[in-house]
Amino acid sequence: MNFLKKELSPVFAALAIQAVIFGGLSLLRPVIAEAIDMPVPLLWLALTQGLIAGIVTRGFGFSIPWVIGQLVAPPLLLFALVLDLPSWIFPVILLLLILVFWNVAVGRVPLFLTNRTTSVAILKLLPKKKGVQMADLGSGLGGTLRHLAKHRPDARFTGLETAPIPFALSWLLGRLSGANNLAFRFQDIFRADLGAFDVVYCFLSPVPMPELFKKAKAEMKPGSLFISNSFEVAGHKPHKIVEVDDRRRTKLLVWRM
Ligand SMILES: C[S@@+](CC[C@H](N)C(=O)[O-])C[C@H]1O[C@@H](n2cnc3c(N)ncnc32)[C@H](O)[C@@H]1O
Repeated sequence: MNFLKKELSPVFAALAIQAVIFGGLSLLRPVIAEAIDMPVPLLWLALTQGLIAGIVTRGFGFSIPWVIGQLVAPPLLLFALVLDLPSWIFPVILLLLILVFWNVAVGRVPLFLTNRTTSVAILKLLPKKKGVQMADLGSGLGGTLRHLAKHRPDARFTGLETAPIPFALSWLLGRLSGANNLAFRFQDIFRADLGAFDVVYCFLSPVPMPELFKKAKAEMKPGSLFISNSFEVAGHKPHKIVEVDDRRRTKLLVWRM
């Protein structure tokens, strides 16, 4: 069912779904208007468009945040048009979205965050020895590393991120936290030397996992830990699975290199 999502970037797939439904509704609009003997209100059309788009998007195997986005986008767009907002608002909103969700279109990795219960579980997985080096590959807003850095002042934490707004926020919040064992780098995870770390953590998506695991295998030192939040690596069974007691039943997959 999710072939559309696999063949196209999810952003383009979602836009394509909206475009096809918009085309269909535009063709049907005069027919419905004739049947009900009045022009079809734009609000009805926007709500119907959102509803159908949400259902179809779910049918193609997209997750709930995507479905909600598809549901609310048409009515929101209509409200924005009715409010007669200045036209520069739309490119600015689009630019902000691109700067936040930078890695969705190309790497197919969205921005969602590790919750606190999971951060506590990761803390327990860190080796007890002093001077442990840990990386969060795709560190988002940096919350996981800020938490870990606070509780393990003897260890050193590095976040790698290429989405401009999350990177800037993580850097700023890291500075404001006052932690001196925490750094954020604007760097693609595939360009990093993973051999520098005793623990590598990632919470990405199924798409980059095979290539990333290959890189980790080639570069990481024997005995170091590779931890993936939720996403498996086909053909490579983790050595340990930690089941986190949170609402989404998070699984931390742990490989010892
Ligand atoms: C699901 S979020 C996880 C954020 C954070 N690690 C956490 O657990 O709260 C994934 C992050 O990886 C980033 N990302 C995806 N591909 C990347 C790449 N090739 N290089 C650097 N960052 C990347 C995305 O921009 C996004 O912020």
